[in-house]
Amino acid sequence: MEIPDSSLMKQLSRPELFDFEGVSMVQYFTDNWEKVKNFQARPDDILIVTYPKAGTTWISYILDLLYFGNDAPERQTSQPIYMRVPFLESCFKMMPPGTELADNLPTSPRLIKTHLPVQLVPKSFWEQNSRIVYVARNAKDNAVSYFHFDRMNMVQPEPGDWNTFLQKFMEGKNVFGPWYDHVSGWWEKKLTYSNLLYMFYEDLVEDTGRELEHLCSFLGLSTPIEEREKITKGVQFDAMKQNKMTNYSTVPVMDFKISPFMRKGKVGDWKNHFTVAQNEQFDEVYKQKMKNTTVKFRTEI
Ligand code: A3P
Repeated sequence: MEIPDSSLMKQLSRPELFDFEGVSMVQYFTDNWEKVKNFQARPDDILIVTYPKAGTTWISYILDLLYFGNDAPERQTSQPIYMRVPFLESCFKMMPPGTELADNLPTSPRLIKTHLPVQLVPKSFWEQNSRIVYVARNAKDNAVSYFHFDRMNMVQPEPGDWNTFLQKFMEGKNVFGPWYDHVSGWWEKKLTYSNLLYMFYEDLVEDTGRELEHLCSFLGLSTPIEEREKITKGVQFDAMKQNKMTNYSTVPVMDFKISPFMRKGKVGDWKNHFTVAQNEQFDEVYKQKMKNTTVKFRTEI
């Protein structure tokens, strides 16, 4: 499959945010909604779910290596990760929509990525009892990462300055809606849907090997320890930053001069962005918004 057509990509523009079924969205993720809603999941599908900037690419690459790392070597050297793991709701002019990419995946199981909040996931995933891997990241680092992403990605809404962005983040005025509802909605789903593994970005940073072991046991994989160690090395931040198939350097709408896709990959970078006043305000809002959930995050490790 071809990588995106860069001349078409450059015609895309920064979209406006609008309300879609109670969630802030942009046209690139709703234009294909009928097909998304009616998407036919399979029992062996693995759905990767995250709020944007929580480590989607990281977990996608880990899963891709676990399942297909020893398959045809050209897959690893010529297919960018966003083609191997289709973004279900995406509908950009320069490449086929995510539903089509997923339908045409030659591999089994299919690895499919989505940022949808739990209530908007196509119902066939529940009906088929597909496995779901959710990765969550603490709100402060997630907000910082999202801010830099909106700055550099010309198909995301204009973020404004850091303070403007942060205020919008607290109001849930981001693409895919409030972080708070996303992480807690998926956390609650775990209580009634057992085929869901809820992971944390901070745990992955702390001990990637340990998390890989959890992942393998959830997926029923008996990947040998040497293989897991090899994967753990290959998915470290510096390795992925150098790897053209995982660093998004093949996507012309992203301006790496403003900020690279593989930016810092740290827990606690929020301390370099939040003022004392912003931090106090954020903690207040956080307490309020998260008062009814038991999910707990680490903002440092
Ligand atoms: P930062 O902007 O904080 O650096 P997503 O893939 O969901 O868009 O998330 C991107 C974020 O995950 C970026 O965070 C990116 O650097 C980080 N990331 C990607 N691969 C990583 C890795 N191997 N180790 C640590 N962080 C990683």
